[in-house]
Amino acid sequence: MLIFERNSELKIHLDRIRAESRQIGFVPTMGALHAGHISLINESKKQGLYTVCSIFVNPTQFNDQKDLENYPRTPQADIAMLEQSGCDALFMPSAEEIYPKEDKRVFNFGELDSLLEGAHRPGHFNGVAKVVSILFEKVQPEIAFFGSKDYQQVMVVKELVKQLNIPVKIVACSIIREADGLAMSSRNTRLNKEEREAAKLIPLLLNESKLLYKAQKPISEIKAFVASKLAQKTIYNLDYFEICDPNNLHVLSDKNELSHGIALIACFVGNIRLIDNLLLD
Ligand code: PAJ
Repeated sequence: MLIFERNSELKIHLDRIRAESRQIGFVPTMGALHAGHISLINESKKQGLYTVCSIFVNPTQFNDQKDLENYPRTPQADIAMLEQSGCDALFMPSAEEIYPKEDKRVFNFGELDSLLEGAHRPGHFNGVAKVVSILFEKVQPEIAFFGSKDYQQVMVVKELVKQLNIPVKIVACSIIREADGLAMSSRNTRLNKEEREAAKLIPLLLNESKLLYKAQKPISEIKAFVASKLAQKTIYNLDYFEICDPNNLHVLSDKNELSHGIALIACFVGNIRLIDNLLLD
C-alpha cells in the first residue's frame, strides 16, 4: 500500500491511475480503524476499484474541543489493518494540507441539519461537508463508501454531492457489530469495562423497538419504553431516541406512523457518546 501525506504526491499518483483507465473507490475515515471501516474497504475492493482510504481527524466537525483532543489515534495499527485488507493507497494529510486557509463555507442542508445529530451537534455536518468536499476534490473517486452507522451523515453527503454537482456515487454499507450487538466505533475503545458492558443495552433496545414497532405499538409507547430503560441507570444519558422516515428523517409520531421506519439513538454511556440505528421493517 502506498502512503501519501501531501496533496501534490497523491495527485500525481492518482492521475497516473486514472490514465490507466482504472476507477477509484474512496473510503474517508478518521482512523482508529476497526472491522466496520475495513468492511467499506472490502466493498470497494469487491467492486474492482483502485481503493483509496483517507485518515484525517477533521477538526472542523468537532463541536467539543475535548472530544477532538481525546479522539483515539492509532496510525501504526491502522496502516497494518489497511495493508492486510488490500487497500491500495492511504492518504494521511496534515491539517495544513486540508485547510491551508480557513474554510469559511456555510452549507445549507435544510432540515437534515436541524434534526437529530444536526440539532445535538451544531456545526458538525457543516464540518463534515467541508472535509468531504475537499477530500472528494483531491481523490476524485468514481464511488465513495460510507457506513450506515452514521445514517444521517450518508444523507448529508448525498445532499452535498447533489448541491455541489460532484460526479461521485455514494454507496451506503451495513453496520458492522461486535458479537454482543454493539455497533463498532472508534469511540468504543474509550469505554471502560463497566461502560462497555452497559453499552450493549443500546442495540438491545433498538431490537426491542423493532419488535414493538412491528407489533404496531404506538411510537409514544416505544419511546417511553426506551427512555425508561435508560433512566434506570445513571451511567446512561439519552440524547435522543426517535423513530423516523428513513427517506428524509422526518420524526414520526403516533399520528403519522409508517409501515417502515428507522429508529435512531444517541446516548452517552459515561462520558462517551454513542450512536446507532436500526431499520424497523
Ligand atoms: P469515521 O467515524 O472514522 O467513519 C468512517 C466511515 O466508517 C464512515 O462512513 C462510518 O459510517 C463508517 N463506519 C464507522 N463505524 C462503522 C460500523 N460499525 N459499520 C460500518 N461502517 C462504519 O465518519 C467519519 O469518520 C467522518 O465523519 C468522515 C466521513 C471521515 C469525515 O471526517
